[in-house]
Amino acid sequence: MTVRELGHDIYWIGAIDWNRRLFDSLIPLPEGTSYNAYFVKGSEKSALIDTVDPSKEFEFVCNLIKLGVEKVDYIIINHAEQDHSGSLPMASELFPEARIVVSEKCKDLVVSLLEIAPERCLVVKDHDTISLGDRTLEFFMAPWVHWPETMLTYLREDKILFSCDLFGSHIATSTLVVHDVAEMYHPAKRYYAEIMMPFRMQIRDHMKKIADLKIEMIAPSHGPLYQPPDPILALYRDWISDTVKNEVVIPYASMHGSTEKMVLHLAGALIDRGIAVKPFDLTKTDLGELAAALVDSATIVIGTPTLLFGPHPLVANAAFITNLIRPKAKYATVIGSYGWGGKTVEAVKGMLNHLSAEIIDPVYVKGAPDSACLRELEALAERIAAKHREAGLLNDSPPLLP
Ligand SMILES: Cc1cc2nc3c(=O)[nH]c(=O)nc-3n(C[C@H](O)[C@H](O)[C@H](O)COP(=O)(O)O)c2cc1C
Ligand SMILES: [Fe+2]
Ligand SMILES: [Fe+2]
Repeated sequence: MTVRELGHDIYWIGAIDWNRRLFDSLIPLPEGTSYNAYFVKGSEKSALIDTVDPSKEFEFVCNLIKLGVEKVDYIIINHAEQDHSGSLPMASELFPEARIVVSEKCKDLVVSLLEIAPERCLVVKDHDTISLGDRTLEFFMAPWVHWPETMLTYLREDKILFSCDLFGSHIATSTLVVHDVAEMYHPAKRYYAEIMMPFRMQIRDHMKKIADLKIEMIAPSHGPLYQPPDPILALYRDWISDTVKNEVVIPYASMHGSTEKMVLHLAGALIDRGIAVKPFDLTKTDLGELAAALVDSATIVIGTPTLLFGPHPLVANAAFITNLIRPKAKYATVIGSYGWGGKTVEAVKGMLNHLSAEIIDPVYVKGAPDSACLRELEALAERIAAKHREAGLLNDSPPLLP
């Protein structure tokens, strides 16, 4: 158990999950995670802000005991997902007088997911405030980061934004507050990719909403806190923008090496043309790494052999996930090899229907890649380079090789 003071009478009382390796039965957690919960004491009233995953409930209770918390007037639930709300049933029994502060949609969810009595809930709307005496909590509705009920809580006098999943990162670390955002660049980007990227447009609106707030610290509900907040806000502004990098991400699988030869040849031809490449062999890839690479790459090339008339299942899975997380790539295509026939290219294109990317002509060949195929791949590299040039991502310098 660990209790850490963030400021006078403001405490972190969450739990670090060093050994968790999978989230939502889907997302790999190579560095673990944390569930941040907070306790804020005002001159008259006190509030808990979020709770922890049920697996860490015991630690959470120990933290409350360690801190000597005897009375809680409000339990703020920014988000109903169980990694933050899962210890609410216990906390609401421990503090039977506490009102559970939720958005309208969150009330519905805590009632149905956690069997919370509706009469315990105090529903708040955008800009509503609750006074703790010398401290004020202000609420900002932030639907779809990443559930429809999410809100942000701003502790006005202390200028702390409790942002729940927004600006979070899955990392178990003893660092409570990060001052140099570079330390967190990769975990924060990966988390954005896995959880937040499908809601880039909604995040734009939420960031506008909080733009005039004076924020000195951002306190998310996973990973470390940010002080000052501007560098992480700047990273988010970049990730949610329409700007893409001169980069091609190539998720692929290959059963007997033909598709892989094609991927490596295309990768070389792209590098020759001044384009960065990130190939991912899906038999080895952690999907979180692929998601992070998809945040700002201009082009996605899916590499797949044909297996039972369609894409390789690992590729189908990666394409399905890519479609779900909706990267902002401007161009996409398919390459690979088949033996006797199928509908692989059509199937993969169909699986990317949520992307706004323009589909570039694919290179799909029978058998092992012969010299004609390699020339076709070079031509594809040239088509991609032309697109990147048109988009202003690549300057006009001639390729190193003809
Ligand atoms: C399990 C399995 C199923 C296959 N199913 C098909 C198929 O339905 N249609 C087809 O055209 N080729 C099929 N093939 C042939 C492969 O697509 C072909 O050998 C291709 O060149 C393999 O590329 P790779 O070396 O990148 O794995 C299948 C091969 C395997 C091993
Ligand atoms: Fe969540
Ligand atoms: Fe979460």
